Amino acid sequence: MDLTLVFLVFFILSCLLCGVRSGSLLNVTSTFTFGDSHIDTGNVLIMAASVIPVWIDHPPYGETFFGHPSGRFSDGRVVIDFIANELGLPFLPAFLSNSTNVSHGVNFAVGGATAIEVAFFETNNLVPFKLLNNSLDVQLGWFEQAKPSVCNCNEAPGGQPSYGDCFGNALFFVGELGVNDYNFIWTAGKTEDEIKKYYVPKVVDTISKAVERLIKEGAVYIVVPGNPPTGCSPSVLTFRLSPNKTDYDHIGCLRNVNAVARYHNLLLRAAIAGLRGRYPHARIIFADFYEPIIRILDNPGHFGFADDALKACCGTGGAYNWDPNAFCGMPGVPACRNPGAYVSWDGVHYTEATNRYIAQGWLHGPYADPPILSALQRY
Ligand SMILES: *[C@@H]1O[C@H](CO)[C@@H](O)[C@H](O)[C@H]1NC(C)=O
Ligand SMILES: *[C@@H]1O[C@H](CO)[C@@H](O)[C@H](O)[C@H]1NC(C)=O
Ligand SMILES: *[C@@H]1O[C@H](CO)[C@@H](O)[C@H](O)[C@H]1NC(C)=O
Ligand SMILES: *[C@@H]1O[C@H](CO)[C@@H](O)[C@H](O)[C@H]1NC(C)=O
Ligand SMILES: *[C@@H]1O[C@H](CO)[C@@H](O)[C@H](O)[C@H]1NC(C)=O
Repeated sequence: MDLTLVFLVFFILSCLLCGVRSGSLLNVTSTFTFGDSHIDTGNVLIMAASVIPVWIDHPPYGETFFGHPSGRFSDGRVVIDFIANELGLPFLPAFLSNSTNVSHGVNFAVGGATAIEVAFFETNNLVPFKLLNNSLDVQLGWFEQAKPSVCNCNEAPGGQPSYGDCFGNALFFVGELGVNDYNFIWTAGKTEDEIKKYYVPKVVDTISKAVERLIKEGAVYIVVPGNPPTGCSPSVLTFRLSPNKTDYDHIGCLRNVNAVARYHNLLLRAAIAGLRGRYPHARIIFADFYEPIIRILDNPGHFGFADDALKACCGTGGAYNWDPNAFCGMPGVPACRNPGAYVSWDGVHYTEATNRYIAQGWLHGPYADPPILSALQRY
């Protein structure tokens, strides 16, 4: 064998190993997260407390991991919990819980949150009810409020706090966002073409501007998750049941709803490419929330999931085991015996098993560009 080749292979291998072993991974000291119910760890429970019932504070929520309802929309952990764990960080406190323990970051995500400000939906008659004021701009406002307490570490010579130094070792998540925006807009009767033309660009622009604002405030490492395939969600499949077979793809998901999610992801990736060009020092990661779920649904057995993968685990029956009058958490609504074999937990949100699979794909690839752990490598 050619000696040069042997050395070359040895060199490449040893560098791969030394890269991992010598601790050249950035020491992430905190995470700050913005988004909706997919990563909320308790905000909506506090915000909705006296306004509307949110059943997630009842069993069986939390049964798989925490052993009790934890403020998360799942039977256990959400994606950011697995990521924090892998980075050696504790679970993130919800901003509204007034935790004094914010040195490792804060979670600003709220169940039901939209990317676009809530006034837009209300003044344009896109929703027939009052929304909780929890959209991305409000979450960014909370971040401003939290900054002095999470960032009392640095004072620049002028006496002004130097937030940039503080956030250089932080990992930000902006999203998932958009699912609630599109859900309201579909429900208001808009067509696929209208949503793509008028609303997707607005949602993506709002997310992109938030990322830009955080970069200007000193964020360097930012994960921007795209939308999941909501056309495969038991609640959406139930609400938008169609007698026309051509409305469904080969998995059984709704084509038009998924087409909007994919278009959102396409525009979001383009917006990220633009931001990377304008802020070359920032490391912006696109996290794919769509493909990992499609991959599982397309071949559930291969991933250890039950064959009937479009059915929710927690529910009282119907084609997708989801009933709008009997939410998971309400009295008498049972969970399946093995949540680990289900993709959807409550018809809207994912099981811990699904969340773990997504988190692994974001950390190590192939579902993130670049994978989080390679973005954190220091050269
Ligand atoms: C990471 O940073 C924390 C806080 O500054 C410090 O306590 C810890 O020792 C660091 N870990 C490594 C591996 O450098
Ligand atoms: C803050 O949280 C960390 C991790 O969960 C924990 O180890 C530590 O004891 C907490 N500190 C206080 C003051 O509660
Ligand atoms: C958090 O603090 C705010 C302002 O002091 C207060 O209004 C709110 O009730 C507190 N929330 C909780 C959950 O304690
Ligand atoms: C939501 O809160 C923000 C920030 O406090 C405020 O500027 C905005 O007017 C509020 N929107 C609504 C619809 O209440
Ligand atoms: C089913 O949908 C297709 C495509 O939208 C349409 O061309 C066809 O007319 C529909 N069939 C029925 C029976 O509505």
